[in-house]
Amino acid sequence: MAKPTAAIILAAGKSTRMVTDMPKVLHEVCGRPMLAYVIDACRAAGVKRIVCVVGYKKDDVIAAFKDEPDLSWVEQREQKGTGHAVQVCRDALEGFDGHVLVIAGDMPLVRAETLDLLLKTHERETAAVTIGTGILEDPTGYGRIIRDEYGNLQGIVEETDCTPEQRKIKEINPSYYCFDKKLLFTALEEIKPDNVKGEYYLTDVLKILAQRGLRALAIRAVAPEEAMGVNSREQLAEVGRIMQNRIQRNLMRNGVTIVDPPNTWIDIRAEIGQDTVIYPFTYIHGRVRIGRHCAVGPFAYLREGTELKDDVVVGVFTEIKNTGIGSGSRVRHLSYIGDATIGERVNIGAGTIFANFDGRQIHRSVVGDETYVGNGSILVAPITVPEKQHIAHGSVVRGERDGKA
Ligand code: UD1
Ligand code: CA
Repeated sequence: MAKPTAAIILAAGKSTRMVTDMPKVLHEVCGRPMLAYVIDACRAAGVKRIVCVVGYKKDDVIAAFKDEPDLSWVEQREQKGTGHAVQVCRDALEGFDGHVLVIAGDMPLVRAETLDLLLKTHERETAAVTIGTGILEDPTGYGRIIRDEYGNLQGIVEETDCTPEQRKIKEINPSYYCFDKKLLFTALEEIKPDNVKGEYYLTDVLKILAQRGLRALAIRAVAPEEAMGVNSREQLAEVGRIMQNRIQRNLMRNGVTIVDPPNTWIDIRAEIGQDTVIYPFTYIHGRVRIGRHCAVGPFAYLREGTELKDDVVVGVFTEIKNTGIGSGSRVRHLSYIGDATIGERVNIGAGTIFANFDGRQIHRSVVGDETYVGNGSILVAPITVPEKQHIAHGSVVRGERDGKA
């Protein structure tokens, strides 16, 4: 991209239809807040400067992204509409010149490729504004794209302001915009809240620019699923399902077998190596790393901080959290392992429990290479079991804290 690009992500609204005390954009989709996907898509499209507009419970939103210090946050105190939301970013983009992408924070299915296409077209055509549009069988709820008889973009009309004829239009505005920065902010000064909702609409900027004879483009670049915003819990689940399919497809392309995709749930942050098989009803949540040639499930639950090296077997009804397991180790049945470091070629017998919590604190356990832990054992943490030990079935093994080995 010859010109620098900034992005404004709109995330100030309080979502009434979600019926929630949380800011909408913090609701999780496959393990991450939906806003994270939008930010990542912008980054992957090469955007360096990202401004997020926040309002409702803004401190919670900002706190959720404290590890990404390059983001800028702008508060929109009152939600007076999408146009107003962009307007409040004026100071944050002071001195910036180039393209400005504007996108909503509640659309986690946005793909970087689509933003990239939008940006490239915008630049190539030296447009004042370029928007991506979608064609939907059921356009209910979306702003409709108005074109003249030559196909030129004239503007966008919100559903609540549509005539019965306009309502029938299936080309919709999914809210993917790319503007020339200066033209955007000068046009914003002209918008008025003269619509059914009494809000300042960003969409009115298009009409203003087009009427000035400037180049306003609308390209049909947005696939129906990318046009899906999350406005309700049903949509959250629907978007989650689509994202889950993407995650699984991606893993399968990289050589992971997923025996029963609809009955498997894998976090977007999980990494899984080639030739690993994930059996049905497995739930993987959090930053979980699984090596090559492992077998996981059926009915396994892997949580944050689980790391399985190569050739590890984790079987039925086994929960693992914050634990590393060395190559060749087996945890086949009915176990809980929390906060442990397990060596190589260790066998954890059926029904073994790592008692990691004493009611006040979490403690760690270590099990050395080639140790055999008998069925139904309880390892009371903190504990270190050396290598090549044989723990009898049904043992309760206490650590240093109790003065026993
Ligand atoms: C908007 C578009 C509509 C489009 C639809 C796609 C306008 C006027 N309409 O409508 O054409 O089809 O998105 O989903 O833009 N927001 C703020 N501050 C505000 C208002 C909104 O930050 O003052 C944020 C919301 O949090 C949300 C996004 O902007 O993330 C979109 O706002 P929303 O009210 O959902 O717009 P729609 O009515 O859906
Ligand atoms: Ca919306």
